[in-house]
Amino acid sequence: MTDTLLLSYEPLPEARPSAVSGEAADIIELGSPDIDAGAPLMTALSRRRSQRTFNEEALSTDVLGELLWAANGINRPETGGRTAPSAHAFNEIDVYAALPGGVYRYDPQGHRLMLKHAVDARNLTGYQDFVGAAPLDLVYVVQMSRLLQIPPQLREACAAVAAGCISQNVSLYCASAGLATVVRGWINHRVLADALRLNEDEVPILAQTVGKPAIR
Ligand SMILES: Cc1cc2nc3c(=O)[nH]c(=O)nc-3n(C[C@H](O)[C@H](O)[C@H](O)COP(=O)(O)O)c2cc1C
Repeated sequence: MTDTLLLSYEPLPEARPSAVSGEAADIIELGSPDIDAGAPLMTALSRRRSQRTFNEEALSTDVLGELLWAANGINRPETGGRTAPSAHAFNEIDVYAALPGGVYRYDPQGHRLMLKHAVDARNLTGYQDFVGAAPLDLVYVVQMSRLLQIPPQLREACAAVAAGCISQNVSLYCASAGLATVVRGWINHRVLADALRLNEDEVPILAQTVGKPAIR
């Protein structure tokens, strides 16, 4: 797909979630991150870009573990500090993973994925045609209840910045590990809230597709 076509942002027809094949695991234990792996930061920065063609091959639990830890994992166990900053450390963004085998919420404390909804909701995480074809769509969800101590007029900005920091961590991890990714603001909040089984005070704010790059 050319950049011109991509930027036309033609909506796809309304989609429905697909059934997962087999039984969705309640918990997916993730591999521990190898903090010495991958390209150095400056190399990753030089490679960072949006890519929108993906290989369908599934990501291993080791790669998922590194990716989600990079996104917003605990990097200072003594304080519970995260790889991404958040105002007052309220950690108001939850990272959801729409996988072929179900929709999961990342649990940073347990470094594992917790089943939220046993459907394949990848195609509901956006309108563009690569969404649903890649093996993983991340969705960043604001837990509004964690922002109550922030003045109302600042809550949206704080949540957007926190989600942006997480997405940049993911982009840099992908650049470092040879994965393709694109962060996406063009999402249907209502459809996503249903697909992810969210409560009233949980708001999807941003999505990000990840996979191995397509071989051209
Ligand atoms: C907040 C935000 C929302 C975006 N939303 C989309 C989107 O919905 N779909 C998409 O294909 N790209 C989206 N992008 C990616 C931009 O189109 C891309 O970053 C821009 O064209 C620059 O290209 P580069 O990332 O390769 O440097 C978004 C980027 C940001 C920061």
